[in-house]
Order: sequence, then structure tokens, then C-alpha cells
Amino acid sequence: MTTDTLAVIARRYACRAYQDTPVPADLLRTIAEAGVRAPSAVNRQPWRLVVVSDKTVMGDIETQGLENLRAADETGYARIQSRGGRLLYGAPAMIIVATQAVESPFPVALDAGIVVSHVALAATALGLDTCVAAFPGQALQPGSPLAAKVLPAGFDFAISVLLGYAATPGGTPHEPDFAKISYV
Ligand SMILES: Cc1cc2nc3c(=O)[nH]c(=O)nc-3n(C[C@H](O)[C@H](O)[C@H](O)COP(=O)(O)O)c2cc1C
Repeated sequence: MTTDTLAVIARRYACRAYQDTPVPADLLRTIAEAGVRAPSAVNRQPWRLVVVSDKTVMGDIETQGLENLRAADETGYARIQSRGGRLLYGAPAMIIVATQAVESPFPVALDAGIVVSHVALAATALGLDTCVAAFPGQALQPGSPLAAKVLPAGFDFAISVLLGYAATPGGTPHEPDFAKISYV
């Protein structure tokens, strides 16, 4: 691993306010392609990546997600309200990782988690700001009209990454707790 890669890992943070500036399509493609390079248990790649940059679809996810979150998760809704009441924080794009249920001792969520890590780090390396986000899944409940429109058939929302340019540059990640590491 190069020191550049380590610097990108150290720089990534959860950005919760974005400029309107769109993310160029070639960058979105590069980032999504980094996502599908992720390792997966027995190389089953149980995912599809959906690159969303259409303003109407982003708006639908925001509106429907907030409405469903409010009904389903009072604490989560209060958390979003305390952060300005915007589920997608004004991000101009997102990559959704959708997964397929497969018979296996290895949870597909592990595979999806590695994909979003690849996506967030690739985007950070390219100068974007990101936020790994589970709450947008509220908008894409299995069987819902919006899920049918956005997600490939047979795949459910697993996790997403919001992508864009920070409204206020200079955000910082959580303080890493190196005491959580032991050496045997
Ligand atoms: C699985 C997962 C789901 C998350 N979902 C959300 C979310 O829906 N909204 C949000 O603002 N942040 C979300 N986060 C971001 C975390 O809150 C954030 O990574 C954590 O507070 C550490 O801060 P940092 O990323 O800035 O270091 C999520 C992170 C993970 C790993």
C-alpha cells in the first residue's frame, strides 16, 4: 500500500452538506468501477451498483426516504432532523449497492460493506467528499414503486455512498481509537 493510499484512508470522512456542483460522469464511472473490484466471499459478487445522478430520482429518494424514516424510526428521524433534516444532505449523486439474497454462511452485508469502502475511498482519492449512508434505504423498501424503478429486479438496497463536493471544505473524520487494536 502506498503512502498516498494511506493518506486517502486517513482523509475520508462523512460529509453532511454538499454543493450543487454535479459530479462529472467519468468520475462516477471510475468510482463505480473501483467498487466492483471489491473482494467478495467465494467471489460470488452478490451485488449490483446503481449510479444515481438524476435530480428527480435523487429528490424522490430524499422525499420518500424522509417520509418512511419518520414513520419507521423515530430516533433515526430525530438524528436526521438534528443534522438539518436532509437525508441526502444535498449530494448531487450517490452509488447504491444492492444485494441479492444467496445461500451462504457469509453474510452478503459483509461483501456490500467492502464495496462501499472501495467506493468511498476511490471517490476521496479523486477529490470528492462522501458519506456512507444506510438511511436512504428507507426510500427503497422491497416491493415499493421507487425500488422497482431504481433497483435491478431481485436486488434489495444494502447500503449507499453519497458523493459530491463539500459545501464547507475541511471536514474531518472520527478520531481513530488506536486502543482498539491489540497485538498478539
Ligand atoms: C453502515 C453505515 C451506515 C451509515 N449510515 C449513515 C446515514 O444513513 N447517514 C449518515 O449521515 N451517516 C451514516 N453513516 C456514517 C457514519 O455515521 C460515520 O461514518 C461515522 O459517524 C464516523 O464518522 P466518519 O465517517 O466521519 O469518520 C453510516 C456509516 C456506516 C458504516
